[in-house]
Amino acid sequence: MRRTRAASFLKKAVGMSLAAALLSCGPDAYVAPSPAPVTPATASKPLATYTDWPSITSAIPKDPVMESRIAQIVAGMTLAQKVGQMTQAEIQSITPAEVTQYFIGSVLNGGGSWPGNNKRAAVTDWVARADAFYDASLATNMAVKIPIIWGTDAVHGHNNVYGATVFPHNIGLGAAHDAELVRRIGIATARAVRATGIDWAFAPTLAVVRDDRWGRSYEGFSEDPAIVNEYAGQIVTGFQGTFSSEANLLVTAKHFMGDGGTDKGDDQGVTTCSLSDMINIHGQGYYSALAAGAQTVMASFSSWSNPSQGINAGKMHGSQYMLTEVLKGKLGFDGFVVSDWNGIAQVPGCTNSSCPQAINAGIDMVMVPTDWKAFITNTLAQVQSGQIPLSRIDDAVTRILRVKMRAGLFSGRKPSQRLDAGNAAALQARPLAREAVQKSLVLLKNNGNVLPLARGKKILVVGKSADSMPNQTGGWTLTWQGTGNSNADFPNGDTILAGIREAAGAANVTYSSNGRGVQVANFDAVIAVVGETPYAEGNGDIGPTQTLEHSSRYAEDLSVLKGVTGKGKPVITVFLSGRPLYVNNLLNRSDAFVAAWLPGTEGKGVSDVLFRDASGNIHKDFTGKLSFSWPKAACQTPVNVGDANYAPLFPLGYGLSYAHPATVPQLAETSVSGGCG
Ligand code: GLC
Repeated sequence: MRRTRAASFLKKAVGMSLAAALLSCGPDAYVAPSPAPVTPATASKPLATYTDWPSITSAIPKDPVMESRIAQIVAGMTLAQKVGQMTQAEIQSITPAEVTQYFIGSVLNGGGSWPGNNKRAAVTDWVARADAFYDASLATNMAVKIPIIWGTDAVHGHNNVYGATVFPHNIGLGAAHDAELVRRIGIATARAVRATGIDWAFAPTLAVVRDDRWGRSYEGFSEDPAIVNEYAGQIVTGFQGTFSSEANLLVTAKHFMGDGGTDKGDDQGVTTCSLSDMINIHGQGYYSALAAGAQTVMASFSSWSNPSQGINAGKMHGSQYMLTEVLKGKLGFDGFVVSDWNGIAQVPGCTNSSCPQAINAGIDMVMVPTDWKAFITNTLAQVQSGQIPLSRIDDAVTRILRVKMRAGLFSGRKPSQRLDAGNAAALQARPLAREAVQKSLVLLKNNGNVLPLARGKKILVVGKSADSMPNQTGGWTLTWQGTGNSNADFPNGDTILAGIREAAGAANVTYSSNGRGVQVANFDAVIAVVGETPYAEGNGDIGPTQTLEHSSRYAEDLSVLKGVTGKGKPVITVFLSGRPLYVNNLLNRSDAFVAAWLPGTEGKGVSDVLFRDASGNIHKDFTGKLSFSWPKAACQTPVNVGDANYAPLFPLGYGLSYAHPATVPQLAETSVSGGCG
């Protein structure tokens, strides 16, 4: 179970080689051409731009009958019942009896928190826990009982749950340029979450990622607001539909607003953009998400300040301007705002258990994982003292009830009685995930057209990530950081190596993680699967003392490639990462190079594209196109489409294919010591 940020935030020690290895092996001004993309470089429709915050009409209109019923319920609630309804506790820190006693409105399971603290809890264990909380919420002495709602981070499938299909992280979906695919993934994920008796997903992340040093870059679809805008509405529609069926699941548009725009990609840092950029870059995902009917919004840990332009919204969790004037006023949002994990404590003058400023600013439900008792005590006192107007409390509770009613929680059916509850098969959507992997892959280099590979050839596989489900799935998988897992924790998935063995024929494949002790000459081709190891949130930040150079953190990958390159056999590198990185020294030692992002549990989606079919024809061509610009230097960040003098190594929308080849020359290899500042 996660969490103290400071304690767990150990930046990777950077053993930078002091001597800058300046191998000017080729033009350092190389910028790949954008070969005629198979799919549009960005979204398929032009993006509307605004001079002020737009008013959004939700797909879910107000229901007058519902509204009057809500008003009656609120009028009959005590202050303690109202404040309890606004409180969200973590499942390990509250019992069903306490849910009843304190009139708790919501629970969540954080990353790495499972029923009974059992990573391999079965769906039936999840459903039993959900029933227990549900029954407890209906056992209060309230005049009208209000069902509890359980939220979970289902951000790439139902990723907390043992046996569930884990989809590619959003950065890979962005490269797929397929909004309809993303809608289908929303549907499949909703079904998986329902199987565990849970009502609410803290997804999608709508960050427009501007600096790839951010540890959460992979949670974003793109640096391009047009792609985020196009996807947001689709994934919300996929998850939620119009709540016409129990298959529909409540979603969360997060993290509002500007989480992907912080200076230097500092997680929970300060976004300094202009008002126009906040409206027209960071807001774009929310406009389509809210239009599609998103009912909850999660506040961002980040701040928005630009004193030179008179902007001082400060911490989003305490910004009345952003949470109330903009989101609820100008955008017209009538759902509820949930705070992030102890996010209220980051508001000046606040703590985990006390923040009238955040509630007055517009936070409706407070994610207070462990200190929820003190929070309730303090908030009651703050209402009684007038620090928090009762009208604000009533508005928050009204919003919460509105969302619960719209989402069907008042149906009278407990979690175990709902659609797919306890159905382990509903956790899986393997063909869909495999399709997503295929479409997410971006071919950056294929000199000599060494790909696709014929079947039946002798293949040497090297690299630490060829046989690693944890490295394929990344953060937010079973555990918060995606660490502490092994292949055995993924019974319903395949590694990339398994896919290679199936395509080439197991007898033709030899695997050596470090590439030592094998003779490359004995093989027809080498496939190297390398890249980043799992991280989440700030733990993944590339801080000021580091650079985008992958080899500065993962020397083993360059070492493996040095061992197999230049031996007269083609080297195909499959690079697993949560973001674009400076990898010229790996590109130069690869004949082909595939950006595979964090593909999830369906590793065979990779070999589906690398290999020809049994008849020798192309089985699947590459269709993925970069949704993040790829840097040409260790400190070329931020680099985003639309920049003045935009000159990345591979631009947004770049992606080769078998149908559209191109040759990549040798590239400059220039390390930078001491970080990018
Ligand atoms: C985290 C994340 C947020 C997540 C929440 C609950 O700190 O910022 O995305 O939904 O906590 O796990």
